[in-house]
Amino acid sequence: MDQAQQLRNIIKMNNIKQKSTARVITVTSGKGGVGKSNVAINLGIQLKKLGNNVIILDADFGLANIEVMFGTIPKYNLKDTIEGKKSLKEIITEGPFGVKFISGGTGVEGLANLSKVQLGNLLRSVEELDEIADIIIIDTGAGISDSVLEFVASGSEVLLVTTPEPTSLTDSYSLLKALNSYKGFSKENTKIKIIANKVSSMVEGRNLFTKLNMVTERFLGMTLEFLGAVPLDEQIIKAVMQQKPISISYPSSKATKALEKLAAELTGISENVKKKSLAEVFSSYFHRKSDK
Ligand SMILES: Nc1ncnc2c1ncn2[C@@H]1O[C@H](COP(=O)(O)OP(=O)(O)OP(=O)(O)O)[C@@H](O)[C@H]1O
Ligand SMILES: [Mg+2]
Repeated sequence: MDQAQQLRNIIKMNNIKQKSTARVITVTSGKGGVGKSNVAINLGIQLKKLGNNVIILDADFGLANIEVMFGTIPKYNLKDTIEGKKSLKEIITEGPFGVKFISGGTGVEGLANLSKVQLGNLLRSVEELDEIADIIIIDTGAGISDSVLEFVASGSEVLLVTTPEPTSLTDSYSLLKALNSYKGFSKENTKIKIIANKVSSMVEGRNLFTKLNMVTERFLGMTLEFLGAVPLDEQIIKAVMQQKPISISYPSSKATKALEKLAAELTGISENVKKKSLAEVFSSYFHRKSDK
């Protein structure tokens, strides 16, 4: 029996629901350091302010971005769940403003090589997250690594953060190109929304999107959406140094206002793509891994 078949059996055995409840939003980028973790955290806070229960899953394995930015040290991480020591619910840490997060820790590099028991432990607990979260934000690492592509290809709603730096634009394109030919990725069922970060004006942000969308439409047959732009704001840098998200430390800053708008836009947009639950995101992740 191959791993995919094993997975289907585990799902069946454990009666794991495949229905979509929580909305899963994956934040990614081609180039590192463009502002993914800041976007993930602050969107999380803004979405919470709008009345949603939010869980941020730090999938930038090994780097612990989210906990550093929240200035909180979690007791447990995904490794504890995979090893069957803790359920997903038990490894949730409460961050500021009631935004919850799950630390990836350093134990998830071997996601592809999980044993049947470990898979069962993880999948069984995924359902718990769907019950307690309205929105799950996954902060991925940057670049065209297998682990990032797997996560992005598994999701149905992707926020691609890009900046006006020429390398950021080309790296975003390279990521989309790799994604387009990635096994299991469906451009029809995935919405890719661009966030232009560190822009000097909203016009610059819009132009950035137009440029990227033009090449992806022409060469990849992929149409992107523009979610919005976040200005280059020194207060973000200060907030990072203080380990206190800008939405909390500088609530009236330009960047916070822009992030507020992005959250409103995200919740106002009518979603006509099929949403995937976290259980589905994880199962397609393992499914494709085992097909390789
Ligand atoms: N709008 C902004 N204005 C000014 N500085 C910003 C802005 N957004 C992010 N930064 C700065 O850029 C740096 C990288 O941000 P962040 O860690 O969120 O990026 P990342 O894409 O998650 O990086 P990595 O790929 O390393 O995970 C931080 O030091 C942050 O202060
Ligand atoms: Mg990061």
